[in-house]
Amino acid sequence: MPLKPEPKHDHGILKFPQGFLWGAATSAHQVEGNNVHNDWWAWEQGKPFDLRSGQACDQYHLYEQDFDLAKSLNHNAHRLSIEWSRIEPHEGQFNEKEIEHYKKVLKALKQRGFTVMLTLWHFTLPKWVADEGGWENGQTVKYFERFVRKIVPEIADYVDLWVTINEPGVYIYETYIARQWPNAKRSLWGQIKSFLNLASAHKKVYNFLHQSFPAGKPVGMANNILSFEPYHKHSIIEQLAVSLNDIFINHLFYFLTGKTHDFLGINYYFHVRFKHRMLLPQAVNTTAQTHDISDLGWEVFPEGIFDVLTDLSDDLPIYITECGIASTNDDRRNRFLITYLQEVARAIKVGVNVRGFFYWSLIDNFEWQMGFEPRFGLVEVDYQTQQRIIRPSAKVYAEIIARGGIPHNLMRFIGHTVTAKEVLARKSHP
Ligand code: NOJ
Repeated sequence: MPLKPEPKHDHGILKFPQGFLWGAATSAHQVEGNNVHNDWWAWEQGKPFDLRSGQACDQYHLYEQDFDLAKSLNHNAHRLSIEWSRIEPHEGQFNEKEIEHYKKVLKALKQRGFTVMLTLWHFTLPKWVADEGGWENGQTVKYFERFVRKIVPEIADYVDLWVTINEPGVYIYETYIARQWPNAKRSLWGQIKSFLNLASAHKKVYNFLHQSFPAGKPVGMANNILSFEPYHKHSIIEQLAVSLNDIFINHLFYFLTGKTHDFLGINYYFHVRFKHRMLLPQAVNTTAQTHDISDLGWEVFPEGIFDVLTDLSDDLPIYITECGIASTNDDRRNRFLITYLQEVARAIKVGVNVRGFFYWSLIDNFEWQMGFEPRFGLVEVDYQTQQRIIRPSAKVYAEIIARGGIPHNLMRFIGHTVTAKEVLARKSHP
């Protein structure tokens, strides 16, 4: 059959590489509902009602429907996590029924043709592990490894990319500094021990996955990476603050875990500028200067994703394991998707090996201490009925995927037109 000539407007497409993974991400506790055996569930009982996960999105039962939706929206990949506390609700006692459940979930993804990225730990611990000190306790590394050794052989056939752990730095920050997450406490030593134990858990699981499945699938972790900037370009104090934060927040985990990454998984949400008052650098709120802001007050700063991608780029492939906006204003999500993806395309153009993008999140879900109010989903969830309602932005994303890039006609969503050529020719900070 002769090839169809390209439609005229295709020339304006901001193209992504062939084989690029397009999808969305979720995590078990945030969507499944009724994770009664973990530390978060216990923690939530002390909170006002709407800040409890409860049924969440009931994805435990509705997963097929949700995967059908993702498929209908052209996604070719999906990131999700399994819940340790369901599989091992009591020490050393593995629940075979739950293992079967996760096999069914993962099979359902494969049957629909998705590339599956699976996270083994996404913030929640079985209650019994938390009661013994959680990540502060060196034993937890052993418990986690035992859990991984049990579950991985059962599900390995259905997983294409492994994410060992999610955002260790955020976990430490929320538990020991902001103290809003389970077992919150002030303890510098606890914080250091937890971070080191998380690094050790990552390394052990990486080695296990490679030793047991030698021709195995790529293994990485998902790291929350921030874009830092000085307020005044030539302020040494501000530059120093940028470098120190970059080292401790963005690079330390990689430093501790060395070569145990087959890819870099980047969660990008934040841009921070440092301004000094007297001699002290302070993080300043820059949202006033931007056009857009999320419902959580988080700045929308697309250039930041270009910044972190070029900063982290070395010879490893990169997946954007999370990137998204909490907003009930879907025009914002349209602009977010288009402008952030423009910057990803630009990073690819300058040589960064980006292989995939997982929008956070497929559906609205339980946003930890913030409850159900933040709406991150491409698909809205009516929590009264568990009905899923596709947002227009999900269709914009679907069109981008179908076209393999951002077609020029979608630029209308960002209020001005800019050609693919112009985007790619941008200097670092337009
Ligand atoms: C990153 C976390 O991995 C996820 O659990 C959270 O919901 C999103 N950030 C949004 O805050």
